Amino acid sequence: RVFTERENVRGCPRTYRIGSSALSGISGVAHDKMTDKAVFTRDKVLTIHTMNPTVKKVEYAVRGPIVQRAVQIEKELKEGVKKPFTEVIKANIGDAHAMGQQPITFFRQVLALCSYPELLKDNMFPEDAKNRARRILQACGGSSIGAYSASQGIECVRQDVARYIECRDGGVPCDPDNIYLTTGASDGIVTMLKLLVCGEGPTRTGVMISIPQYPLYSAALAELAAVQVNYYLNEDKCWSMDVSELERSLSEARKYCNPKALCPNLCSCQVYQDNVYAEGCQFHSFKKVLFEMGPQYSNTVELASFHSTSKCYMGECGFRGGYMEVINMDPEVKAQLTKLVSVRLCPPVPGQALMDLVVNSPKPGEPSYNNFMKERTATLSLLAEKAKLTKEILNTVPGITCNPVQGAMYSFPKISLPEKAIKEAKALGQAPDMFYCMKMLEETGICLVPGSGFGQKEGTYHFRMTILPPTDKLKILLAKVKEFHQKFTKQYS
Ligand SMILES: Cc1ncc(COP(=O)(O)O)c(C=O)c1O
Repeated sequence: RVFTERENVRGCPRTYRIGSSALSGISGVAHDKMTDKAVFTRDKVLTIHTMNPTVKKVEYAVRGPIVQRAVQIEKELKEGVKKPFTEVIKANIGDAHAMGQQPITFFRQVLALCSYPELLKDNMFPEDAKNRARRILQACGGSSIGAYSASQGIECVRQDVARYIECRDGGVPCDPDNIYLTTGASDGIVTMLKLLVCGEGPTRTGVMISIPQYPLYSAALAELAAVQVNYYLNEDKCWSMDVSELERSLSEARKYCNPKALCPNLCSCQVYQDNVYAEGCQFHSFKKVLFEMGPQYSNTVELASFHSTSKCYMGECGFRGGYMEVINMDPEVKAQLTKLVSVRLCPPVPGQALMDLVVNSPKPGEPSYNNFMKERTATLSLLAEKAKLTKEILNTVPGITCNPVQGAMYSFPKISLPEKAIKEAKALGQAPDMFYCMKMLEETGICLVPGSGFGQKEGTYHFRMTILPPTDKLKILLAKVKEFHQKFTKQYS
């Protein structure tokens, strides 16, 4: 007998199993004492034991346990809990706008016009912003950015991306058909990895990633049950890549998997292409280098590169705009890629519109050009200043060694930790730099990411810190890090 929820079950046994029913999914009935009614129970189909085991292996340090604790502490502060600090400073993630970076006016004007075309009648918007908005809207279904686009992305945006790449790479040709617009760079990277992975046991796909890495790679490889093959960057040479280390890593990996791809994530992932601060340093795309190396490389090496609206001077992470360029891809695989991206219909159209503005920014002579350049330069100069400041201050702390921040938005200093602290961390089952960062968070309100989340050479410890907080706050943050490190070292020595 199956009870209805309203039936009174007085007199029924407290738990009355009626067996699993494939149709109802109900596996039992219990008696709710409070309401004196029957309550149906069912065994969960999805439990920690039955769920996809690869998902359980996924870790993403950038939003890991330290960040979860930081969010909790923020709540506690709001509730009036007394702490030795008044605010949490989040230096864990490259989220520029969250740290106060201002959006580029031209981009937001065009996006506002695209979102609410009535504004096209408004005199406060410059003519070039209106023209861009009209062009984007014309390319959208029903002239609305609320419509789905083609799965590979809006055609005129892909054409603009191709022209931008050609110009950036000194005339190396780019076919718009090789451009896929994506939901940020992350989406493109995961899609490419999905295409790559196959085989079992020693034939399982291996993917070579640099250590330290961007944790999206290890997370995606874990989810796809691919083999993560580490190669270590040389910290003593400013995190450069040694070919001998690549060769070591490759020949080791061949013993237990089938290494098929190399992710030089700090470089071929091009998301920081405008964030180059070191004097004499310049961004070179892998594609351009392949062409400089000659046709035996440029006509054969299969390369996927990724860019995004999230970083550089834009910092528009929330729009989830991005693109991927593939070259020398087997046409049959490319058809599979196109099919795969079509399953998700399309990347967000506002993100595509923003990507278009990034690759087709105001030109000299256009009304918005001067202001655009002023804002772009100001943001990049400030980041360069903060990169320098971070390295300088961190290197004044005994026990902290920081390489010059040559590009991107992060420092990754090495920290020496006392033996006693390492032992205490291990007793708690924590990585020593996790132990250190957690203590720093509790005592100072500063939220960093332990180096262990990015990978590091055995026996070395680091933390990752963004250079994004406003200069005044960054100075306070660095002073607090210095004070904490000294106190921590004293306490555990
Ligand atoms: C190296 C690298 N690649 C990709 C991404 C992800 O960027 P997106 O927001 O475009 O997905 C990040 C984000 O921090 C990154 O640091």
